[in-house]
Amino acid sequence: MRCLIRGGAGFIGSHLAERLLHLGHEVIAIDDLSTGSMENLSSFRFHPAFEFHGDTIFNRRLMAELVDVADIVFHLAAAVGVKRVVERPVQTIETNVDGTAVVLQLAAKKQRRLVVVSTSEVYGKSNKFPFAERDDLVLGSTYNSRWAYGCSKAIDEFLALAYYRERQLPVTIVRLFNTVGPRQTGRYGMVVPTFIRQALQQEPITVFGDGKQSRCFGYVSDVVDGFLAVAADGSTAGEIFNLGNTEEISIDDLAGRIIRFTASPSSICHIPYSEAYGPGFEDMGRRVPDISKAERWLNYRPKHGLDDILRDVIAFVRAQIGKKQAVFVAPGARQESPVLNLGMPGAGRVPLQTYSRGARELDSSHSLPARATP
Ligand SMILES: NC(=O)c1ccc[n+]([C@@H]2O[C@H](COP(=O)([O-])OP(=O)(O)OC[C@H]3O[C@@H](n4cnc5c(N)ncnc54)[C@H](O)[C@@H]3O)[C@@H](O)[C@H]2O)c1
Repeated sequence: MRCLIRGGAGFIGSHLAERLLHLGHEVIAIDDLSTGSMENLSSFRFHPAFEFHGDTIFNRRLMAELVDVADIVFHLAAAVGVKRVVERPVQTIETNVDGTAVVLQLAAKKQRRLVVVSTSEVYGKSNKFPFAERDDLVLGSTYNSRWAYGCSKAIDEFLALAYYRERQLPVTIVRLFNTVGPRQTGRYGMVVPTFIRQALQQEPITVFGDGKQSRCFGYVSDVVDGFLAVAADGSTAGEIFNLGNTEEISIDDLAGRIIRFTASPSSICHIPYSEAYGPGFEDMGRRVPDISKAERWLNYRPKHGLDDILRDVIAFVRAQIGKKQAVFVAPGARQESPVLNLGMPGAGRVPLQTYSRGARELDSSHSLPARATP
């Protein structure tokens, strides 16, 4: 099958791409590298069945071409991360709402199978636990831009379901709860990689709020299993599925566990939300998924518990820190642009026309490889 991944150089998109290639599918990825990176692609960048377009999902002409040749489209591209959402609400709303509208229009025109990735943030401040797909969404005030992310994703869901009902688009929505694993960056406020980096660098672990808020962390490969189960089952069209893990932990306990697993001398430092994100910031006290629908329909069973996940991410962050230190100490090392430098041993530079962000420069790279036999 030929699979198009919008947001394919992101944390989850790159794991999905890697798995699909491993299963013998052809993968086309598009990503503007705003929060994703070429380094995420380094283990399969030169796979013969992989094609990468470094461009925005708003390049409508390119998107139309790519949707045309795809058998299925996975839509993951979004403005993500609490920090980014609070700092850039216009970009968040426009990317998430307009970006999804474009792919829905194009997929509907060609009746392509589409998987739209949403978030547990749509449940907002609801205090009915665990969160199930048909529950009410309780979003906060529009004065508080923190809710723009969940709200923009909720609009995506409304629009996707409207396309399913009115235009018979075979679209399925997956609502992800906190997903973690190797390649996730802490740069945009993601808690697990941030705490692990702080612990490994023996810095204080910065817990926002009182630390009593709890979350459930799912492993990225389990989430990818869920995507594949949805993709393989046409009867999921018009449905929403929660994907995540049900093991709940408070953020204080998470910090403590990371300190223990890394044998770090770090202390835990509580920072008020107002200091971290500005006055009036609100957070959800708990976020627990009801995954019984995915269990029944998709036979979805998360295979990884939190301890396995943390050990894996600790190994990844340790290796990242090691790599960075090696770059800093390398005598006469040349400064590279973060986009150009793949930073992985054995990885070459990406040819200009395939990584460039400029739509015009990309025109020469639109031709797609021959369809691979799955
Ligand atoms: N990681 C989580 O815990 C989590 C939880 C719930 C939902 N999600 C959803 O999963 C999806 C993937 O998230 P992720 O965690 O992999 O984050 P990510 O930031 O690594 O992935 C998003 C990707 O989209 C790309 N992108 C953003 N705007 C773009 C544009 N205009 N054109 C092209 N590419 C663009 C980014 O560069 C990035 O590679 C998102 O839709 C997110 O809302 C993630």
